[in-house]
Order: sequence, then structure tokens, then C-alpha cells
Amino acid sequence: MTSTADYTEKIPNNVSLHEDRRLQRALESWQPNFLTWWQTMGPTLPTQDVYLRTAVNVGREGWAQFGHVPMPEYRWGIFLAERDPGRRVGFGEHKGEPVWAKVPGEYRSELQRLIVIQGDTEPASVEQQRNLGATAPSLYDLRNLFQVNVEEGRHLWAMVYLLHAYFGREGREEAEELLHRNSGSEDSPRILGAFNEETPDWLSFFMFTYFTDRDGKYQLGTLKESAFDPLSRTCEFMLKEEAHHMMVGTTGIDRVVQRTVEVMHEHDTDDVAGLGAIPLSVIQKYLNFHYSVSLDLFGGETSTNVANYYTAGLKGRWLEDRRKDDHQLTSDSIMVDSLSEDGKIGQTEVSALVGLNTDLRREYISDCQSGVKRWNRILDEAGLTQRLKLPHIAFNRKVGAFAGIEASPDGEQLHAQEWQRRSRDWLPTDVDKTYVRSLMQPVHERGKIAAWIAPPRNGINGQPFDYDYVHLI
Ligand SMILES: [Fe+2]
Ligand SMILES: [Fe+2]
Repeated sequence: MTSTADYTEKIPNNVSLHEDRRLQRALESWQPNFLTWWQTMGPTLPTQDVYLRTAVNVGREGWAQFGHVPMPEYRWGIFLAERDPGRRVGFGEHKGEPVWAKVPGEYRSELQRLIVIQGDTEPASVEQQRNLGATAPSLYDLRNLFQVNVEEGRHLWAMVYLLHAYFGREGREEAEELLHRNSGSEDSPRILGAFNEETPDWLSFFMFTYFTDRDGKYQLGTLKESAFDPLSRTCEFMLKEEAHHMMVGTTGIDRVVQRTVEVMHEHDTDDVAGLGAIPLSVIQKYLNFHYSVSLDLFGGETSTNVANYYTAGLKGRWLEDRRKDDHQLTSDSIMVDSLSEDGKIGQTEVSALVGLNTDLRREYISDCQSGVKRWNRILDEAGLTQRLKLPHIAFNRKVGAFAGIEASPDGEQLHAQEWQRRSRDWLPTDVDKTYVRSLMQPVHERGKIAAWIAPPRNGINGQPFDYDYVHLI
């Protein structure tokens, strides 16, 4: 197999799709449904073309090309990282055995479920972000939004390929369902809570790409370890694209904080609402919200399902091969968050296998810290004493040990009444949201930018900020 994509095919791919006519036909019949979904549920802002990155190769160098592309003609394709013929299972009871090129019968339904859950998040985020183009702060940001959108569309393709290629009729039905469920829908919502929340403004978008896309990065990281080799190779390549989404979130919040700091200095006040910038307190509230709903995505502190996935080799840990243990964990333990018998926030010891969700969530949390550090550096360099911070793990949780209690961002346990009274200081209120939305006036002029956000330090692919990233209609 070569790593170069075949672009002569209707569906660009590096999996020699033409050698399997049945599969090719099945995917070609799914393709028009995907395009209908893109047209009806994808970006609403009409555009002529967008300066987009398209994956053309999975190799280390030169894996993508850049150019102006009409979005409906984007070449969504199927790309798997190159196969390592010597790859062996890295963990669990099959550790050391050759990886699987096919789905073992006994793990079929579990693998299908994992792929469906991952697959469901990809189109969900496109749906959540569909109206943002109308209020983009610059053509540069507009282009980044669309880049994220087309790549999430490609990630859907990646999961649909696996379903079609390895899971027979049931897989094909699941692939259809991925287009039928919709974010926020009453009748058939997306599977996970955070993917049914709105992304109504660009501050939410940057928080989403920072916190929620980062959850995706960690989920993909565990699936990249899978003994089911096609899943592993698919996720490895998706992670490469995902890095850009993280960059959009990280630098997006950088730029919001930067601009706020400038306006605070200019007017010598913290109260920049009304001055066209977003107050630090509002940024903190948005951060609190997006971080806490993203923590929920990792599931309960303990899970026997996840323990079984690990033992079976379906889903590993983040950076499994860097862990210095036996990669089987049958006799290890871990402290996980829990409520004590008298209902207090605490920790309890469980077997390491059962606590794998906690392990992954902790990896994620320490990664999230790096962004906060970087935004605080901007505040520090501006000579300000205010700081942003991640709220306590028990804050605003709907899943896991702390779902039934209320806690402040500092981890102080609160009675329901007190929470009612004080939560408006910690989560975006209608007033905050209305204010942020009022700032979302589109700037679609080349080289211009909205007043609530600083321009980026660098453009895309070496192009300047004032490049014509998007041609509108
Ligand atoms: Fe994705
Ligand atoms: Fe993403």
C-alpha cells in the first residue's frame, strides 16, 4: 500500500478502495447523503471558495496541500496512517500478539460502539458551528472555522469507512444514523451532552475548540492504541488534523485575552463591557462552562466497560507506550474522585483498570492547564494581577461522582439554594451571553478585524493576515 492518496477516484483514498468494488459502491452511495447533510446541516454562510488545507498524503512531509476550494467540492477522503507490518498489541491480555487486521467476532459490538460514539461527535460539531460564519471577526477566522468544519466532515468519513468496511450491514445502518442524529435535536440528538450544546458565538467557538476538541484528541489518542489496526491507523491520521483545531482554540483565546488587556489599559478599567471588549470575568465564566461540560465527556470516575475495553485491547491509555508499568494493570490501583459516605468531596482507591476514565481525564486536565498558563502569561506581561483558572473538578458536573452535588470553582461544597444564588457569578448568564453576542458583528473585509479580538501573530501556511482567505458571494 502506498501512502499517497488516489485522487482519480470519486472518493479520494489511500486504502486501495478500487480493489473492493462492493465497499466502493457502498461508500459511493453514502456519499450523496453526506453531501445533502453538508448542504442542509453544514455552514450556512454562502461562499465562493475558501483557502483550505486538503489531505493528500499521510507521510511525515507534505501531507496536505493548500488552495482556494469551493467547499461543497472539498475532497473529503479516506486516509489511514501507514501500516506498520510489525505492530503488536501494546496492552491488555493480548499484549505482544500481532495486531488485528480484521474485527475479532467476540469484540465486534464493542468496537462498533466505540467507533459510532467517536463518529457521532464529528458531524455534531459542524452542526453546532453552522451559523458562526455570519459573525466571523475576520476572513482569517472564517477560514479557520471552515477548515475545522471540513476536517470534522472528513473525520466522519473516517469512521464511516470503518463501519462500512468492517461491520457489514449493521455498520452501514450506523453510518446512516450518523447523518440522521442532529445536534440539539429533540427527537434524535447527538449521543454526548456537550455535542448538543449551542455554539452561538465566537468566544464559545474558541472555548469549544480548546476544551471540547481537546477531549476528542484524548479519545482519539486511546483509540490510536487499539489492537484493531485499521482503527489505530485512522485515529493516528485524524490526530494530525486535530492539532490545527487545538491551535484555533488556543490562539483564539490568546487573542481575546490580548484585546481585553489592551482595552483595559487604554481606559484604565477592568469593566470593559460597553467598551467593545470581553471582560476577563466573562472569559472566566465561558471557560468554566466549557471546561466542566468537557470533563463530563470522559464519563464516570470508574467504569467496568472501559476496564474490559482495555483488557481486550480495544482502547488503550494516552501515550500507552510511554507508561512505565506492565501495560496490563491487573494488580495496580489508582485513587479516583468520589463522594465520601457523608457526602463530602474526596477520593477513593480502586483497581487501575476500573479507574481508566480517571486516568484519561487527568491527562486531559494537565493539558488544559497549559492553555491557562499561556493566557495568564499575557495578563502577567501586561502587568495585571488578575488570573484565569480551571475550576475545581466538582464544579458544574452532570456526570460522575459529583453529578449530585454543587460546588464552587474553588471546590467548596454548596447547598442547592446557595448554588442558585451564586452560580451566576461563575457561569455565563443571559446578560453575559447577550453582551458577547452583541459584539459578534461580522467583519468580512480583507485585512480587517473585529474590535473584541486581536489579530493573529501568523497567518495560515505562511500567508499574511490580510490574505484573501475566503471569497464570499
Ligand atoms: Fe474530529
Ligand atoms: Fe476537531
